Amino acid sequence: MSERLYIFDTTLRDGEQVPGCQLNTTEKIEVAKLLESLGVDVIEAGFPISSPGDFNSVLEISKAVSEPTICALTRAVKKDIDVAADALRLARRKRIHTGIGVSPQHIYDKLRSTPEKIVESAVEAVKYAKRYVEDVEFYAEDAGRADVEYLARVVEAVIRAGATVVNIPDTTGYCLPNEYGAKIKYLVDNVPNIDRAIISTHCHNDLGMATANTLSGILNGARQAEVTINGIGERAGNTSLEEVVMTLRCHKDVAVDTNINSRLITKASHLVSSLMNMPVQPNKAIVGRNAFAHSSGIHQDGVLKQRQTYEIIDPQDIGLNESVIALTARSGRAALVHRLELLGYDLTQEELDATYEKFLALADRKKEIHDYDLLYLVGDIDRMK
Ligand code: KIV
Ligand code: ZN
Repeated sequence: MSERLYIFDTTLRDGEQVPGCQLNTTEKIEVAKLLESLGVDVIEAGFPISSPGDFNSVLEISKAVSEPTICALTRAVKKDIDVAADALRLARRKRIHTGIGVSPQHIYDKLRSTPEKIVESAVEAVKYAKRYVEDVEFYAEDAGRADVEYLARVVEAVIRAGATVVNIPDTTGYCLPNEYGAKIKYLVDNVPNIDRAIISTHCHNDLGMATANTLSGILNGARQAEVTINGIGERAGNTSLEEVVMTLRCHKDVAVDTNINSRLITKASHLVSSLMNMPVQPNKAIVGRNAFAHSSGIHQDGVLKQRQTYEIIDPQDIGLNESVIALTARSGRAALVHRLELLGYDLTQEELDATYEKFLALADRKKEIHDYDLLYLVGDIDRMK
C-alpha cells in the first residue's frame, strides 16, 4: 500500500506570476476545472490582495470548483489575510497560505528585522488566519538558505499556533537534493510536534533541480508537493506536476503515490501552454514534443520490437495515443517499413532498397520526413493531394 502525497498546484499563482502568462478569470476557471478533473488536492488560486482581478479570480474559482481545496496566498500581514478570507468565502474547502522569509537575506536585508521578530510575526499571522479558516498553511520563505535550527524553531512555533501544513520553500532554487532532503529530515527528527502538520515541498528550478529536490523532500517525509503544470513559474520555474507524478508512478518502490489521473496530463499541458502563450521545450520530460519520439535507427528498431526497450512510460498513461517514430536521416529501414505499413504499403525487398536510398537522400536535405514525403517517394501522387 502506497502512502498518499498531496498535490498542491500553484499554476494559477506562482505560475501565473510569470511575465506574459497572465490569464483572465474565465481562462483561470478553465484551468481550475481541468486541475479538478486531474485530481489535484489543492489549487492555489491567487494572491487576493495583489489586485482586484486576482481577488475576483479566487472568488470565482471558489464557486466553480468544489472537490479540491482552494487556497489563497498572503504575506504575514493582517490586511492580506482579511482580503484572502473574503475572496475564499464561497469555497467549499478553503485554505489560507501565509508566511514570511526566514533566511538571513530575507530577515536582515528584505524585512530589516530580527530572527525573534520573525517568529512573532509568523505565529501572529497563523493565529490570525485561524480566526477565518481551520486549514492554515505556513510558508517559511527561502527556507532553502535558512539556518536549519532556526527553521525548526519557526516550524515548531507555527505548528503550535495551529498551522496544518508547513511549507519549506527552496525559493531561489539553490539547494542540492541531498541538502534539501536533509533539511526535511532534520525537521522530521527534531520538531517535537511535527506529526500535527503535513510537511510540504515548494522548489524552484534555478539550477534545474526542482524535481530532484522535491523527490528528495518526499523521500525524507514531505507529504505535500507544490507544483505547476509544465513547471511554469518565477524565473526558471517551479517543480513540474507531471515529473513528480510520473516519477512516483515509475518508482513503485518509493511507495508514495498521488491521486492524479495521469491520462489528463497531456491535455493539461496543452491547455496551460496555449492559454499562457508559453511553449513547452521539445525535450521537456513527460510533456515535451520529443519526450516520446524516437529518431535514431537503433532506438526505432528496439521500440518497434518491444516498446519498453526505450520507453519507461506507456504514452497512453499520460494521454498520448502512441509514441512517435520520427523519420530522419538517422532512421533505419525498420522505421521506414513501419511507417509505410501504416500508410498501407507492403514493398518488395527490391522496392524497399530503392525507396530507402531515395529516403536517405531526401532526409539529408529535410530535417524530418512526413507522410506526404513518403507518398512522393513511392510515387503515389494521387494520395498526396
Ligand atoms: O517560492 C516561494 O517561496 C513562494 C512562497 C510565496 C510560497 O512562492
Ligand atoms: Zn515559489
